[in-house]
Amino acid sequence: MLAGKRILLIIGGGIAAYKSLDLIRRLRERGAAVTPVLTRAGSEFVTSLSVSALTGEKVYSDLFDLTDEAEMGHIQLSRVADLVVVAPATADLMAKMAHGHANDLASTLLMATDTPVLIAPAMNVRMWDHPATQRNLAQLLADGIRVQGPNSGDMACGEYGPGRMSEPLEIVAAVETALGQGPLTGKRILVTSGPTHEPIDPVRYIANRSSGAQGTAIARALAALGADVIFVTGPADAAPPAGVRVVRIETAQQMLQAVEEALPADAAIFAAAVADWRVASASLSKIKKDAGRLPVLEFAENPDILATISQRKTDRPTLVVGFAAETDDVITHATAKRVRKGCDWILANDVSPATGIMGGTENAVHLITADGVEEWPRMSKQSVADKLAARIAAVLC
Ligand code: C5P
Repeated sequence: MLAGKRILLIIGGGIAAYKSLDLIRRLRERGAAVTPVLTRAGSEFVTSLSVSALTGEKVYSDLFDLTDEAEMGHIQLSRVADLVVVAPATADLMAKMAHGHANDLASTLLMATDTPVLIAPAMNVRMWDHPATQRNLAQLLADGIRVQGPNSGDMACGEYGPGRMSEPLEIVAAVETALGQGPLTGKRILVTSGPTHEPIDPVRYIANRSSGAQGTAIARALAALGADVIFVTGPADAAPPAGVRVVRIETAQQMLQAVEEALPADAAIFAAAVADWRVASASLSKIKKDAGRLPVLEFAENPDILATISQRKTDRPTLVVGFAAETDDVITHATAKRVRKGCDWILANDVSPATGIMGGTENAVHLITADGVEEWPRMSKQSVADKLAARIAAVLC
């Protein structure tokens, strides 16, 4: 609920501005008051009349409107809200924010405000992917700006890819989180992700093909619902998401130690692809290539982190979730694994090469619980993460 909260909503100029009308309704349904600011470009897409009708408030649009200055100066306007939301945030608005421009009402308010700012970017996929936008995005994240979306999909311009503004309800969830009202606010959740590297000697190691994409998406989804996420990651390709506490490790033994140090937690999600074995005694110096002699590696078993935490007598998280990547008899193997390891849920998937899941952007999983098996349709790894996060919230809250 957002009762008693005031949102300063800046509507930028993009076709997604039509969704901001629905966003206003959704915010007001939850009890929030909305003070609207419509940029000149925004007013090409939605009218001031519809925005004021839906907010029930005056629409601000001009920096040099003397009546407004007399009634409420732009500095004061920037401070009336609990949160400033920019939706849609165009490439131009993001650039202005990243570089500190203040040459119209919206950019001036964004410079003058002392309240948290959340942006929902929307633009053509090429504009989103452009190095300048990505530089600006990195700067905005570094400045503490919260960013919701964009989503991937068909765009109004006929292209496909990231750039679509998040749906109104996704933005509402981000608003609730930003205001400390997310369903997982106050919950501490541990997520493991990525591969582990097991040293052979100081320069060589044994690794696996995990990119860390699914674990990263899960950490992002949980943080978006307000959870305090401790993200224990091996050396993954995927960059850790914003807003989580990152603990970097290399080996399985280091991962177990980091996980144990992070307890107690309300839930633990073990998405890492942990190496089953390590080299029993890694050489402290580089193994030389001796003519005619091949090195012999002796292996030792790594700790099973998921099983260790699932079977703890003290400080066991309320909900422990494991993954099962299988290439055949997925459900049978995963169902047995849930019982053997002692975890509550298993997300099982078929990673045979034909599925393209390993290293890809999509996943098709089965959720295995004590109650049975649920088949989820094939979807993006982020959508799997969002669905899982919502389920976790339903159990913990
Ligand atoms: O036994 P298997 O590797 O198939 O189990 C996969 C699940 O167990 C994943 O959730 C993985 O993160 C976890 N795991 C672990 N420690 C290991 C091996 C697997 O936590 N040493």
